[in-house]
Amino acid sequence: MAPLRIRVYGDPVLRRVAQDVTDIDGAMAELCQEMLAAMYEAPGIGLAAPQVGVSQRFFVYDFGEGPGVLVNPEITESDGEWVYNEGCLSVPELSWEIVRPRRIHLKAHDLHGNELSIEAEDLEARLFQHELDHLAGRILLDYLDEDQRREAKRVLREQAMSRPSRPASAGDGLKLP
Ligand code: NI
Repeated sequence: MAPLRIRVYGDPVLRRVAQDVTDIDGAMAELCQEMLAAMYEAPGIGLAAPQVGVSQRFFVYDFGEGPGVLVNPEITESDGEWVYNEGCLSVPELSWEIVRPRRIHLKAHDLHGNELSIEAEDLEARLFQHELDHLAGRILLDYLDEDQRREAKRVLREQAMSRPSRPASAGDGLKLP
């Protein structure tokens, strides 16, 4: 099977609000394995289903403690404020200082359908918030001011013209220190 292609800015699937997963089956588990492979290959630390063209509410991640999958995640609480340099596999080669809550409480399911309740902070919380944005059709450009966004679009247009040579990426969600 051909490796999954990570969709980049301009692909309409990145702007779609993803649907809740209603049935966790073997095909989905297999897709998660392929998504993890594409994520490690990129390399990145998170990858949401819409980024591979699947408009469903789940994402894979590994911020250094092994691979994980979160299905139908919801943030139930958040607090604090933290600025950090953040990049995205779907917006290659660019990154910005983005303000987000530092801590979140999140509910989700795993691939076995078990309910999860997760307290996350710092890098982990940021990564989860970033991937949740993808599930809602939001991307990093939405956090920028007008000048930053105009410059980002200019760079992305240039990238699009020089493909298929795929540029190196800072990694989805954020750069690890
Ligand atoms: Ni991203």
